[in-house]
Amino acid sequence: MYRDISAAVMGSINMDIILKADRLPEVGENVLGSDYSYAFGGKGANQATGLVRLGARTKMIGKVGNDANGIRLTENLKNNNIDISGVATDGTSTGLAAILIDKDGRNRIIVYEGANTEIVPDDAKKYISDELDVLLVQFETNEEAVVSCVNEAIRKGIVTVVDCGPAKNFCLEKMQGVTIITPNENETESLTGIFPADEKSILTASRMLFERSKARYVVLKLGERGSSVYDGERLEIFPSYPARVLDTTAAGDSFTAALALEYVKSGDIRAAAVMGNKAGAIAVSRVGADASMPTAEELINYTTK
Ligand code: RIB
Repeated sequence: MYRDISAAVMGSINMDIILKADRLPEVGENVLGSDYSYAFGGKGANQATGLVRLGARTKMIGKVGNDANGIRLTENLKNNNIDISGVATDGTSTGLAAILIDKDGRNRIIVYEGANTEIVPDDAKKYISDELDVLLVQFETNEEAVVSCVNEAIRKGIVTVVDCGPAKNFCLEKMQGVTIITPNENETESLTGIFPADEKSILTASRMLFERSKARYVVLKLGERGSSVYDGERLEIFPSYPARVLDTTAAGDSFTAALALEYVKSGDIRAAAVMGNKAGAIAVSRVGADASMPTAEELINYTTK
C-alpha cells in the first residue's frame, strides 16, 4: 500500500509494563490488578512499527540504555524490519512506561524517559537523509533533538509530521513550517490552554496551533469523536469508526503513522485523516502498544467493511 515510501521516526523507545484492574486507583488507594504483561512501546517505536506494518521502509532514530530492556527493544525493532542504524546506546536506563488500564480500556501512563532524553541533536540530525519522504517526531525525547531534526527535514523538503505527545507546552515557534501538527485533546490543551470540547473550541485551538507552528495542516485527534483538519481556512471533522475498546494505548501512534503515509501517498489531508481514524479504531480493539498497530491488509479490509 505504501511500499514506495521511505520514512524515518526520531522518537522514544520504551519498555511498557501494562497492569490491568477493574478500575484505576484513587490517590493513596491500593487496588488489586487482574493481569500484567510487558510490551514493546514508546511513542517513537510504536509509530515506526505502525509505518513498517503499513509497508513503508522505516528508519528509527533514538536512544536506549545499556541494559537488558535496551537490548530487547532494539532486537524487536530489528525483527520488525526497522532500520536501527540510527538507534544509539547510552549509559542511562532505557525508557520505561507504567500503563494502568481499567475494564473500559481507559489508561493512565507514567513515563520514565531515561535514555530518550539523552539523544544528541547533531547525531540524530545526521540520519535525516535526502532520500526520505517523511519524518515523524513526538515530544517524548528532548526538545533540542526534535527541533534540530524537524528543521533539517524542512530544509531538505521532507514532509514533517509532528505528533505532540506526551502533553507538554513545547516551543512550536522553533520549528516553523512543519507539514502536519497533530496533538490529541490533552496535548491541544497543554499547547493552547483550550480543551477542544466543541466545534468552536476546536477551531480556536487549531487556529492558535496553525499560527504558532506555521504548519500546513493542523490535525486534532479527538478520541472517540474522530479527528479534525484545519488548513488555515476551513475546519472539517471526520467521525471515528465504531470499535470495541480494549485498550486505547498507542491508538494515537497508529493514527499518526497512517495519517503520515496516506498524506505522502495521496497528498490529500482529508483522506489521510480518515485513514488515521481507521487505524485508531483497529488499535483500540487490541491490547498493547506496538502489537496493536494494524497491517496494510487490515486497513484495506477495514475500508471495505
Ligand atoms: O503512545 C503510547 C506509548 O506512550 C506507550 O507505548 C508508552 O511507552 C508511552 O510512551
